[in-house]
Amino acid sequence: MRTYFDLAGRSALVTGAGAGIGAAVSEALAAAGASVLVTDISGDAAAAVAERINTAGGKADSAALDVSDREAAEAAAAQAAALTEGNLHIVVNNAGVTSPAMFPKLTDETFRVTFDIHVMGTFHVTQAALPHIPTDGTGRVINVTSSAGITGTLGQVNYSAAKAGLIGFTKSLARELAPKNIMVNALAPLAATPMTETIRTNEKFAANMMNRIPLKRWAEADEVAGAFVFLASDAASYITGQVLPVDGGMVM
Ligand SMILES: NC(=O)c1ccc[n+]([C@@H]2O[C@H](COP(=O)([O-])OP(=O)(O)OC[C@H]3O[C@@H](n4cnc5c(N)ncnc54)[C@H](O)[C@@H]3O)[C@@H](O)[C@H]2O)c1
Repeated sequence: MRTYFDLAGRSALVTGAGAGIGAAVSEALAAAGASVLVTDISGDAAAAVAERINTAGGKADSAALDVSDREAAEAAAAQAAALTEGNLHIVVNNAGVTSPAMFPKLTDETFRVTFDIHVMGTFHVTQAALPHIPTDGTGRVINVTSSAGITGTLGQVNYSAAKAGLIGFTKSLARELAPKNIMVNALAPLAATPMTETIRTNEKFAANMMNRIPLKRWAEADEVAGAFVFLASDAASYITGQVLPVDGGMVM
């Protein structure tokens, strides 16, 4: 019988995985059988998530990785590949920051930092990973974009531009890597994480956000993590170049 969601024998590298969605995705991939390199700019945060996975019976290692550092990305890709005899099957480019301000107040610095982490970070990690990604149909690159990059959002021109950039990145790379049988997709999540704390709790933003979510609730990070497992799995072996919103119906 054909199985779809078993990731045993596959390795994964998740960025920005010390908290929020990245931590939940690391745990979900490990629960599906993958060996996961949990990375974050905070090595301690990454190590704590890896320890949680190992304690629960999964397989994980950790590394400090600032995705804007190309050399560190290369070292992390090699470390992740070493988890499964030299192959790195699944790359999740999740690390992210927001630096909101209305357009007249956006500075060069916050614009650059946002691009460095989201766009350049995804570029570094994916390019570092590519030599290790197998071409037997199990290779996956999953980029984390946002509804902000699809529909735009107030006070986030820098973030929306970076996240829209990742959609173009995903589609072009999907075309380039299709001949190598490597799938490249993007996921646009919505979840209760440290990043969204202000818009969930601040009176000024919370009601407006809730109005935009048809399911009328925030997901916990582990609820959106399942869609990452799907894109990482054999169930997604014929899906490439797509953007999957996992956001309670906000983008449809
Ligand atoms: N939470 C949401 O509703 C939502 C919505 C749309 C998109 N996203 C995207 O999902 C991803 C994860 O978001 P989250 O909500 O879990 O955020 P979060 O702030 O909870 O976690 C982000 C993690 O990234 C790490 N990080 C920050 N800069 C880094 C760097 N330079 N290198 C490596 N790691 C770094 C942080 O230390 C943190 O652990 C981000 O790309 C975000 O833009 C989140």
